[in-house]
Amino acid sequence: MTKNVRITMIGTGYVGLVSGVCFAALGHLVTCIDKDKNKISKLQNAEIPIYEATLKELVDENLANQRLFFNTELKSAVESAEVIFVAVGTPTCVVTGKADLQYVEGLARELAPLLTAYKVIVLKSTVPIGTGQQFKKIIQTINPQAKFDMVSNPEFLREGSAVTDFMDPDRIVIGSETDRSQNLMKAIYYPFLQKQIPILYTDIESSELIKYAANCFLATKIAFINEVADLCEKTGANIENVIQGLGLDKRIGAGYLQPGPGFGGSCFPKDTLALIQIAEELACPLSVVEAVVQSNEHRKKKMIQKIVNICGGDVTGKRLGILGVAFKANTDDIRESSAMVIIQGLQKLGAKLRVYDPAAMEKAATELPGVDWAHSAVEVMRDAEVLVIITEWEEFKNLKFNNLDKKPIIIDLRNLYDLQEMKKMRVSYHSIGRPAVKSQAQVQVLMED
Ligand code: UDX
Repeated sequence: MTKNVRITMIGTGYVGLVSGVCFAALGHLVTCIDKDKNKISKLQNAEIPIYEATLKELVDENLANQRLFFNTELKSAVESAEVIFVAVGTPTCVVTGKADLQYVEGLARELAPLLTAYKVIVLKSTVPIGTGQQFKKIIQTINPQAKFDMVSNPEFLREGSAVTDFMDPDRIVIGSETDRSQNLMKAIYYPFLQKQIPILYTDIESSELIKYAANCFLATKIAFINEVADLCEKTGANIENVIQGLGLDKRIGAGYLQPGPGFGGSCFPKDTLALIQIAEELACPLSVVEAVVQSNEHRKKKMIQKIVNICGGDVTGKRLGILGVAFKANTDDIRESSAMVIIQGLQKLGAKLRVYDPAAMEKAATELPGVDWAHSAVEVMRDAEVLVIITEWEEFKNLKFNNLDKKPIIIDLRNLYDLQEMKKMRVSYHSIGRPAVKSQAQVQVLMED
């Protein structure tokens, strides 16, 4: 049965903002709260602080039909809500590697005195197992009269496709303890129930662990395929064939088997580290995930070495063109981006770098002094001796190398190009886990050597 629920979303970061806006689009009445006054006043004017396709349209639409509100005032938003979602940040603590819970716990203390009538409090932030119970305890200690139920409802959306991921999820996970809270969650997700999207009801702890386990498993697939790609390079096998052969096995699945420069972003690096810490504290070490983190760290150095080797062992003074600084395509996010590490490494080795990214240059500029920023991919290619593609932006997939006076050696860390096409274009082309294509000119140089 359709019921529009009064929701308050606390935290307008990636998860909070996208979820809040999408809940409004599903028909609920949503108030998004953040302490950042500047951000809230921009959101009130439909200015979107993140790079996310189609989010603006949804914000415009739902501001206009008065289903979506942005505010800094917690008290009234809590009082008027039936369900309060918590989507505040859980960054990695630089000292311990653990998830830093200061914002989550601080919020529990702020909420406690405001819970005068029954509310459902839903943790949407990725939080260590046991945080839901801890949140409950903090509230009960401060306000023993508070009437509320705790729920865990992790979010699995990806940056760059967050709205689609939210609206068309593989599954929804709801960890709860009472029928009352579960029924309100069912009402919120009713449109998905109708679409037969699987909804998994669990206890709070399992729900919290599912989120970490999912991210760690996906990271494991990537680290694994990156190492298999290395093996392909050593043996002459082609990673594309290997991925097909693996992916067709339904037990393995074809997703997250794309080799590259190592995973980055705001989640995989953070969540792998956090789960390792959680497991260590419980004397239950996760040696597989530990190996994944190590492998991924090593991957970035390996990419630098690969580039240096292709450049003949020395990049000092070499003009390198770099395409991509974002941690993946369709985002301006550079957090934990392998591209940043590779660029800094090459800079240290004395390479001259000209760099272009369609969206992330502004964010990267302060962290990469000494880089010559270009306005387009073509500008980067024009003068480069070696062109390195690090991020898989759509616009990097159709570059015309034929038109260049002097063709650079191409190092493609995302396997964007077809080997046969590159042969036809007569360029020297190196990718990941696939045989290198050598242009006639390069073959000649090697013979002369
Ligand atoms: C991830 C999870 O996918 C999402 O469910 C969770 O909610 C948040 O973390 P996100 O960080 O946005 O999402 O990016 P994702 O698209 O998963 O990619 C993460 C990293 O893995 C990127 O650096 C990407 O380039 C890399 N990757 C991904 C690969 O190298 N190969 C792949 O096959 C897939």
